[in-house]
Amino acid sequence: MPWPDSSKDEIFSRIAAERLRQNTTLQLIASENFASPQVLAATGSVLTNKYSEGYPGRRYYGGNQVIDEVEELARTRAADLFAADHANVQPHSGANANMSAYDALLEPGAKVLGMSLDHGGHLTHGSPVNASGKLYDFVGYGVTPGDEMLDYQQVEELAHRHRPRLIVAGATAYPRVIDPVPFREIAESVGARFLFDAAHVAGLIAGRVHPNPAPSADVVTFTTHKTLRGPRGGAILCTSELARDVDRAVFPGAQGGPLEHVIAAKAVAFAEAATPEFSAYAAAVVANARCLAECLAAEGFRLVSGGTDNHLMLIDLRHFDAELTGKQAQSSLDLAGITLNKNTIPNDPRSPFVTSGLRIGTAAVTTAGMGTGEMPLIASAIGRTLRERDNSEVLRRIRGEVRELCAEFTPYS
Ligand SMILES: Cc1ncc(COP(=O)(O)O)c(C=O)c1O
Repeated sequence: MPWPDSSKDEIFSRIAAERLRQNTTLQLIASENFASPQVLAATGSVLTNKYSEGYPGRRYYGGNQVIDEVEELARTRAADLFAADHANVQPHSGANANMSAYDALLEPGAKVLGMSLDHGGHLTHGSPVNASGKLYDFVGYGVTPGDEMLDYQQVEELAHRHRPRLIVAGATAYPRVIDPVPFREIAESVGARFLFDAAHVAGLIAGRVHPNPAPSADVVTFTTHKTLRGPRGGAILCTSELARDVDRAVFPGAQGGPLEHVIAAKAVAFAEAATPEFSAYAAAVVANARCLAECLAAEGFRLVSGGTDNHLMLIDLRHFDAELTGKQAQSSLDLAGITLNKNTIPNDPRSPFVTSGLRIGTAAVTTAGMGTGEMPLIASAIGRTLRERDNSEVLRRIRGEVRELCAEFTPYS
């Protein structure tokens, strides 16, 4: 079969247009990154053609000799990277990983403790609009009203009051370290299982700049495409005792044929994440986030919890401009070539479609090669864009500055 040339199907020109967008605008969405060409090559490989329901050595289809080797490598690399007993690399996404982990650990209707969505938790941590909130009886914990840090005391009180079967730690919009040890202790004290959702911080854990939850948690779920910088997907780590239940919950419990091209790309990413270069990258992501947070504070923005010690920060826009919503800020920044997302802040008076906050992450710009020298430029561009959001001439000028900056740090040249 001839390799496609971009003129044949307009979808390929759209892919080229998206590559141009990624190369020429600032990618500050905290859950995104730039996967390596090796990861992209594996994702776009002939492994997409193969059906391989089951697990290595136990497949429902023939012809899986090579696929078995690929998946075995991915499983071993994942388990080694996080020092876990067992890994399941088949979940198509982080949401699938969480739902399968719940299925392995819980009966429908079981009581679970998770971080509330409006305090930084994920939809799959019990939101009423998500299957997790419909199937299980979630109780939400959050951050303190004072310092906006995770309220471990509240977790303990709620655990003793509700006696959950499972406690879920992990977040989608929380800028601080989540310590797995107190969660383990609280879970043990009430006889609950403990699941750590490391979707956002998996790369920081692999890079040894955040604590590894695998030794403390019964189950760790994570996504492979955020700070870990792999292909879009999910994975589950667990103790040997839970391996069979977890595997059965993923297949046949929730999914059919695994995406072996993505699993191959996950294996590539796990190998990349085990290198000293990746540890240096993870440390640079955090250093850049700290620097960007300080520069944004100097621009007059209030940071939720006063700063960050991971790859992301949350801005409370009300302090900067009481009228400015997250929705409006996101679209003004889009015009200036600065891509990020509106986000609720703890106890946000506005709806999740409008919000009073912005979430900003440094994983992608760090992959592109930016360092603490570039963070003041980004903070200044954000500040000026939002102050001058009604002045299209200023926005055009900032768009030009962003294009110049991105030309020096192009992810896919
Ligand atoms: C904490 C957390 N868990 C799970 C997920 C779900 O991952 P996915 O979007 O791959 O389903 C996310 C995604 O943002 C997340 O932040």
